[in-house]
Amino acid sequence: MAANNERSFIMVKPDGVQRGLTGEIIKRFNNRGYKLVACKLVQPSKEFMQKHYADLSSKPFFNGLVEYMSSSGPVCACSRIWENKERVPLYCKYLKARVKTFVNVVKTNPLASAPGTIRGDYCVDLGRNICHGSDAVESAKREIDLWFKPEEVITYSLIEAPMVYE
Ligand code: TYD
Repeated sequence: MAANNERSFIMVKPDGVQRGLTGEIIKRFNNRGYKLVACKLVQPSKEFMQKHYADLSSKPFFNGLVEYMSSSGPVCACSRIWENKERVPLYCKYLKARVKTFVNVVKTNPLASAPGTIRGDYCVDLGRNICHGSDAVESAKREIDLWFKPEEVITYSLIEAPMVYE
């Protein structure tokens, strides 16, 4: 079976960590067959969060977002890899779809997120939506490089296949 090694970056935000939802969020990705390759609790600085959200720097909510993310307790930063028998379009189908449907959301606002999605199941506030996910291969790479040193991303095989295929 050919491995697909596209990676995603997922972060449980301070509100998710405070509410004890870190394990729940990690479990959802495990259940879907994503393999955890990096994970750590981090207390990010304001400057660091400005870098992370640099593409939103012109938005009116940027300062509040950065302030919240850097001063409300730690976040849990994770990277995931999806290995399966298909090859390429997985990021689009599952990860972008994750960011847009599975993890959260087609919607950033939890109230517009469908039940069954992480945001749709666990939160109600736009600015306290518990989980971040990269929205494309390129942004995932940028975010993984920002959050993790190379040696913190671990390559390994699962002893048992995480999925059973037809
Ligand atoms: P964005 O990257 O647009 O959304 P997503 O997290 O769904 O990819 O925005 C980043 C975060 O900024 C978002 O998760 C919550 C916050 N935010 C606000 O506080 N107010 C807003 O109006 C928007 C659009 C986002």
